[in-house]
This record gives sequence, structure tokens and C-alpha cells, in this order.
Amino acid sequence: MYAIEVVNLVKRYGDFEALKGVTLRIKENEIFALLGPNGAGKTTVLRIIAEGLSYDSGEVKVFGRKLSREALRFIGYVPQEDILYNLLTVEENLQFYADLFDAPAERIDDLIERFSLPRRKKVRELSGGFRKRLSIAVTLLHDPRIIILDEPSTGLDVPSRRELWRIIRELKEEGKTIILATHYMEEAEVLSDRVAIMNEGRVIAVGTVEELKRLAGQSSVLHIEGTIVGAENLGSNVLVKENYVRIPVEDPRKELPKIIDVLLKSGSEIRLVRVEEPTLEDVFLKLTGRGLE
Ligand SMILES: Nc1ncnc2c1ncn2[C@@H]1O[C@H](COP(=O)(O)OP(=O)(O)OP(=O)(O)O)[C@@H](O)[C@H]1O
Ligand SMILES: [Mg+2]
Repeated sequence: MYAIEVVNLVKRYGDFEALKGVTLRIKENEIFALLGPNGAGKTTVLRIIAEGLSYDSGEVKVFGRKLSREALRFIGYVPQEDILYNLLTVEENLQFYADLFDAPAERIDDLIERFSLPRRKKVRELSGGFRKRLSIAVTLLHDPRIIILDEPSTGLDVPSRRELWRIIRELKEEGKTIILATHYMEEAEVLSDRVAIMNEGRVIAVGTVEELKRLAGQSSVLHIEGTIVGAENLGSNVLVKENYVRIPVEDPRKELPKIIDVLLKSGSEIRLVRVEEPTLEDVFLKLTGRGLE
């Protein structure tokens, strides 16, 4: 059973088809990223799953059941724009949403402690990173099994982004399923178990980062430095210089040990090996002919 199963989802805004048949199967306890440029349809997919936004055709299931009010209780949603009250304090915001969700009062204290939130500070005085933490805390009040985050790190500085990634990983360790939309390929690469690349209302590829890189047929490049002997035995597209060889390979995990073996047996002394892998940006470029941002 999948945590979320979306099959052939079509969504129109008037005459405009924002989703043109999107299929996604998200497993329990994975971090799943929707990666795509502006207008790809990421928010639309998330709003259909998390907010019950209407759609034109297709199917949406949460833990095997049709999307319903009850199923929505399994889901916590952190929208792109936050839903905090600027003039209320951190604690008052949590109190407000706890009342709304019927969450036990002790959860407020737990969450304030867990995210090191400044209890009595007004929300308008919080930095972007703390605002985001508070938004996540709000969605955890009703202890959802699935957490959906729409562009969680947009606008955050590097330390706040890293802290956010740590929080997301921690939620996974607690058994949560996490779905996040992002247009930062780095975020998708470092954080997610699987990625769906979206473009213009379609999912154009799904898989682990490694699978996606391979799927696009991008080759990695090995750079080897040292006193190299026997590089001519490695094939034709190998660049050999005095103390350096550059070798394009399809699958570095398989090929690197063999290549090192050949070079060592020929009497090379290897000082440094570097593997240059293709990025998700390369994959997107290959599939669509344009860049991500
Ligand atoms: N309420 C709406 N009415 C009309 N068109 C809409 C509406 N919401 C979204 N759209 C259009 O649907 C398409 C997909 O939008 P969506 O917000 O899902 O994209 P996105 O991938 O989240 O983009 P971004 O990275 O900018 O957040 C866009 O072309 C957008 O203009
Ligand atoms: Mg969006």
C-alpha cells in the first residue's frame, strides 16, 4: 500500500490544463521530492492532496483510501506562503491551531522545546528560518503521518536551510512520510529518497537521484591523478596527460574499481581519484531542452 497514490490526475483552471495526467506513487516513510520549474504544477498537486482542492479527473488515495475529510487528518501541510498570525506570539499561534485541531495542550510545550522556539516572541519578529520552523510545528500539532511541504527552503539562508533539512530527516526517522516541492535541485538531491521531475503539468521522470541520472544517459567522468601507466588499455575516449587521465564512464560504481585495477597492474601510482557526477539539472536539461531555474 502506498502512503499517497495519485493516478492520471487532470486539473484545469478554466481552459488552462495545469495538470495533464499526473501519476505518483509515494511509499510510506520516504522523502519524496517534486522537482520542477515555476508553473510545473507542483503546488497544484500538493493542494489537491493536502487541501482537497477539486480536480477534473483521475484518482487520489491516501493509505489506500479515497481522499476524504477523514483521510485529510493523516496529512500535515506547510503551504508556500505561511499561515501564521503576525501579531500573536509563537505560543498563541500554536494555541490557536491546537484548539482548531483539537490537539492536546502538552503538545504545544513539546513542540516549542523541540524546535527551540521563542515562546513569547511575536511572529512578526521571527527570522525566516524560525517562521518556517513554527509553520512545521503547527502542522505537527495533530500528529499527521504524512507531511507535505511546498518549497520549504525558498528564501532561507544557508544555515536555516540546513537546519530545515535536519528537521525533515528527523521526521523521516520518526516514521513520517514526507513530500516536498522544490525547484532547488540540490535540495532534491541531498534530501530525498526519490524524485519526480515535473514540467508543464506532467511528470517527466521518477526515481532515485541515481536512477534519474542514469536514465538521462549522462555519463559521469573520472579524473585520476598520479604517475599513470597503461591508460591506453582503458578505451578510446580516454584523455591521457602526463600525470592525469580523464575517463567518461556510465556507471562509476561498477567501472571505477576495474579501472583502478588495470592502472595499478600496469604499474601506475595513483595519488587522487575524483568522480564528477551529472546533476539533476543536467537530467532536466536533457529531458526538456532547458534549465531548471
Ligand atoms: N488558481 C489558479 N487559477 C488559474 N491558474 C492557476 C491557478 N493556480 C495555478 N495556476 C496555473 O497553473 C500552473 C501550475 O501552477 P502551480 O502553482 O501548480 O505551479 P508550481 O509548480 O507550484 O510553480 P511555482 O514553482 O511557481 O510555485 C501555472 O501555469 C499557474 O499559473
Ligand atoms: Mg508552487
